[in-house]
Amino acid sequence: MIAILGAGALGRLWAASLPAGETAFVPRAGASGNSPVDFQFQGPDGSIQDVSVPWQALGDPVSLLLVTTKAGDTQNALTSVMATLPGNTPVVLFQNGLGSQQAVAQRWPGHPVLAASTTEGANRPDAGTVIHAGSGQTWIGAMNEAAQPYVGPIVQQLATSGLSIHRESDILSRLWQKLVINAGINPFTAILNCANGEILTSEFYQQNIDSLCSEIAALMAANGQTKERPQVLRQQIETVAENTARNTSSMRSDTLAGRKTEIDFINGYLVRLGIDAGIPTPVNQMLTEQVKLLSPNIQEQPDG
Ligand SMILES: NC(=O)c1ccc[n+]([C@@H]2O[C@H](COP(=O)([O-])OP(=O)(O)OC[C@H]3O[C@@H](n4cnc5c(N)ncnc54)[C@H](OP(=O)(O)O)[C@@H]3O)[C@@H](O)[C@H]2O)c1
Repeated sequence: MIAILGAGALGRLWAASLPAGETAFVPRAGASGNSPVDFQFQGPDGSIQDVSVPWQALGDPVSLLLVTTKAGDTQNALTSVMATLPGNTPVVLFQNGLGSQQAVAQRWPGHPVLAASTTEGANRPDAGTVIHAGSGQTWIGAMNEAAQPYVGPIVQQLATSGLSIHRESDILSRLWQKLVINAGINPFTAILNCANGEILTSEFYQQNIDSLCSEIAALMAANGQTKERPQVLRQQIETVAENTARNTSSMRSDTLAGRKTEIDFINGYLVRLGIDAGIPTPVNQMLTEQVKLLSPNIQEQPDG
């Protein structure tokens, strides 16, 4: 049985895509989850499918745990689950940004911990519907030594979903590449309350993007990543913003819905790296603060 922790948009995409009867959602600590999770799943081609996923019962054997909580909820959510999971059960982390994956790998060093970077897009317009808005690619790689032997078999197992899954030998670099894009698009869309493509012509973006890319380039070099020129990073960010011009970023959606954003694991993570390395990050800091000001009543804490 593949257990899925986090019955949100991405968790339901996996549950709907993997073969029926092979998945179960992990209930929150202290909750039993009696009736199954029923929802309508709309595929990228518009097809509709009724899906019913049971909650995992205490003692059910788990061969693999997919973690699809938000980055800020992950350690808390995993704490009770890890206590009951056999030490050799692999755990695949699907969170955006960086920081939460390393925190989990450090906290449970003996467990096989893997991370995934995915460009799949799923959203939940209401409690009973999940829309697979865009097909993408998913890369999976080991976050620690214990996970190395599991990468190939897990890629094969998850490929039974029909989603496009690849083995990644350097998952940290893959996560960094996505972090660059998220750091250069998401906070601007949330602050300006606009679609991805609209940031490109805004004065606020134009004033800050070069300094932001210089900060990120310096942080990447200081953290063992390929040294990229800031102009190259800017080009990468703008290509994605143009290709997804009409999309709404998750950070903008979260802000509009009054939900906690993942800013602490995107620009906020870069600020923390800057403090550790003695590299000033005034633009990342300003963007992090401004995004937090959009939801002043929500406490956002880095997860580890
Ligand atoms: N959606 C996508 O297309 C997509 C694509 C790439 C990456 N990601 C990343 O995947 C992660 C999940 O995204 P999402 O869009 O699926 O978010 P989401 O819809 O908010 O789903 C997160 C789920 O986790 C549940 N949860 C929170 N704390 C929990 C706990 N302690 N125990 C059990 N469940 C708990 C939430 O329950 P409640 O609803 O009750 O709060 C929610 O159902 C994020 O890091 C996101 O950046 C998502």
